[in-house]
Amino acid sequence: MARITAGVGTSHVPAIGAALDAGKAGDPYWQPVFKGYDFSKRWIAAQKPDVVFLVYNDHATAFSLEMIPTFAIGCAESFQPADEGWGRRPVPVVNGAPDLAWHIMQSVIQDGFDLTIVNRMDVDHGLTVPLSLMFGQPQSWPCRVIPFAVNVVQYPPPSGRRCYELGRAIRKAVSLFDEDLNVQVWGTGGMSHQLQGPRAGLINREFDTAFLDDLTRDPERLANIPHIDYVRETGSEGIEMVMWLAMRGALEEKVREVHRFYHVPASNTAVGHIILENPQ
Ligand code: DHB
Ligand code: FE
Repeated sequence: MARITAGVGTSHVPAIGAALDAGKAGDPYWQPVFKGYDFSKRWIAAQKPDVVFLVYNDHATAFSLEMIPTFAIGCAESFQPADEGWGRRPVPVVNGAPDLAWHIMQSVIQDGFDLTIVNRMDVDHGLTVPLSLMFGQPQSWPCRVIPFAVNVVQYPPPSGRRCYELGRAIRKAVSLFDEDLNVQVWGTGGMSHQLQGPRAGLINREFDTAFLDDLTRDPERLANIPHIDYVRETGSEGIEMVMWLAMRGALEEKVREVHRFYHVPASNTAVGHIILENPQ
């Protein structure tokens, strides 16, 4: 059977992708950011996931204000890196896992989550930057990826609780898939950041640290955080952190934190990163 072995949380700052693509990863500003992922690259090379179920948000790239799915699952054979205004990132095409995606989609919809089914979609920095952070710059991505897009751009986004419960439904679906696959679930975005308005540049290290702490030991507390607290405490874009709760919900109650990284600044964002392993 397929099994979820681990979860990864990571920020997805677009400037990180731009820095890597432009060969600036060793610059003094960026070096400390990439250093936080050295362990992660070794870890994932040893883990060898077959499929990453990658929870991220589209930033008005594949979708626009014309059409805004709350939850969208990518069921295609492959996904092109998106052109976000300055050409496509020079990263490999993302290969999907249609059989598993269709299985999860059916199971999760029947469990009460009305997903949008996507058979063609370009994937933006929300998805490609985490792949770059975890895998570096390979010729092809070493695993298949199921893109799962969450609306955190247009009010109202789904609650943290809803994302956490969705993670549970994903966990159940994967456990019922009749193929021996090592599956990881990733949640991307965050941590605290605000990109516009009088509070642009807001960072809340205290909130972010407590969030990382409780991801391991008290995700129930995190699932109860209402939207307004994210906005007040973590800035208008901090709401991206609800996607980490989908990742956490997909894991077992007790998990092991094997890596953590927190760094300010990277562009306008506090870069946070965590790796959680399920019990064997
Ligand atoms: C920035 C961060 C994001 O998460 C994002 O999606 C876009 C921009 C930033 O820090 O600039
Ligand atoms: Fe973002």
